[in-house]
Amino acid sequence: MSQAVIAYIYLHALYLLFWLCSADIGLIGLAVMGQNLILNMNDHGFTVCAYNRTTSKVDHFLENEAKGTNIVGAHSVEELCAKLKRPRKIVLLVKAGAAVDAFIDQLLPFLEEGDIIIDGGNSHFPDSIRRCDELEKKGILFVGSGVSGGEEGARYGPSLMPGGHPDAWQHIKPIFQAIAAKAGDEPCCDWVGGTGAGHYVKMVHNGIEYGDMQLICEVYQIMKEGLGMSHDEMAEVFTEWNKGELDSFLIEITRDILKFKDTDGSPLVEKIRDTAGQKGTGKWTGIDSLDRGIPVTLIGEAVYARCLSALKDERVRASKILDGPKDKKYTGDKKEFLAQLGQALYASKIVSYAQGFMLMRQAAKENNWDLNNAGIALMWRGGCIIRSVFLGKIKEAYTKNPQLENLLFDPFFQEATAKAQDAWRNVIAQAVLMGIPTPALSTALNFYDGLRHEKLPANLLQAQRDYFGAHTYELLDAPGKWIHTNWTGRGGNVSASTYDA
Ligand code: 2AM
Repeated sequence: MSQAVIAYIYLHALYLLFWLCSADIGLIGLAVMGQNLILNMNDHGFTVCAYNRTTSKVDHFLENEAKGTNIVGAHSVEELCAKLKRPRKIVLLVKAGAAVDAFIDQLLPFLEEGDIIIDGGNSHFPDSIRRCDELEKKGILFVGSGVSGGEEGARYGPSLMPGGHPDAWQHIKPIFQAIAAKAGDEPCCDWVGGTGAGHYVKMVHNGIEYGDMQLICEVYQIMKEGLGMSHDEMAEVFTEWNKGELDSFLIEITRDILKFKDTDGSPLVEKIRDTAGQKGTGKWTGIDSLDRGIPVTLIGEAVYARCLSALKDERVRASKILDGPKDKKYTGDKKEFLAQLGQALYASKIVSYAQGFMLMRQAAKENNWDLNNAGIALMWRGGCIIRSVFLGKIKEAYTKNPQLENLLFDPFFQEATAKAQDAWRNVIAQAVLMGIPTPALSTALNFYDGLRHEKLPANLLQAQRDYFGAHTYELLDAPGKWIHTNWTGRGGNVSASTYDA
């Protein structure tokens, strides 16, 4: 064979290989989120190879939603891997749990060192930590990425929170930042941190979402029951709020929901059974905060409020036998009270985010994550459910001072809460007098008052613990020195730490 023929065959083989390995990224999981993320990547000029366990969905997708695009399909994991440029980048958007592990196992035989697996599902962060560690040993770079913004976000710009093996970031950054939502010119996607950090931050995001929603619901109940407002009047207030410091997606959709009429002309929202569902991410945040000893009280109350709402039958019975103020309405100036309500909502929201960032700081310490707080605020600024103008202020606070100990210490938020506090106190006092529950608004104020107390009554608590259990205590002027007192004269002088009882 002449050299020319060999060169010809060689070039064609190269071309064929290049053609076969033409996709920039692969995606497994063709439910709506997966399909929309693929279409979004295609819009931004990336070639995506799509795969799904039920392969008929690949054909259906290619023949319908993906028709006329550069999207390619695969009918096996092997074919998918063969069609990807190196290092391979494969996004999993499948049901959290066993399906993720199953796909990782299926992929491994067809991957090479340095290839990247990105789990974009709603995985619990300990699973992501485990997967990242296991895959690192095999030379595969694992990324767990929070994806928020629902179907619409996935299609036109989600908030993306990737974390995991740091070497993966340079390879996925151009794609992720291109398809993410934008706040101004800035992409709502940055590297969150190491192993598990992406899904951790997404979990806290969801917890904060629970809190924001509960706060709005409490405000709605005060407006409806305490002020006797109509739905159109309430919608009007939310419209106004959405023009100022409360400007956010959740305020906006609440306005639309309140305005929405059923076919009979009455507000649809009043026909909806008042029992809240939950998928568990708020609960995960609450449990995690208890494990780490960080008082994330507002998210906790938001989760419990959903639990209480779900006890509908018991509440119906209680409503008939448990006493409370009878049909009490607010009798003062309505306009002034509504302004106070807005302030109470705003201040409570500040506390909730301060608590969320306290939790992330502690988790970062325990997991050796170098969390970029300003970056996290920017990732949440657009694309996701908690997107708001307010997150821009949080970004500013952490950009000015990346080591900020507490969001409430930032001059802007310190001033905002100081300005709101009288209104905030009055709203809660009035709600208590009217018998309207405000678990989230109240816990925010209680946290604020607790945090700003140099001295709390835990001195008495320590004395009690020492009294009944010889648990010992420290004196104010001698921290670190543990003392036991024989409070009754009957017990011994031996402290609990010296024996197991
Ligand atoms: P399917 O279309 O074959 O059911 C959302 O449910 C996505 O996760 C779908 O793409 C679905 O695939 C996939 N999925 C759910 N459970 C799965 C499992 N146990 N193994 C693989 N894929 C799964």
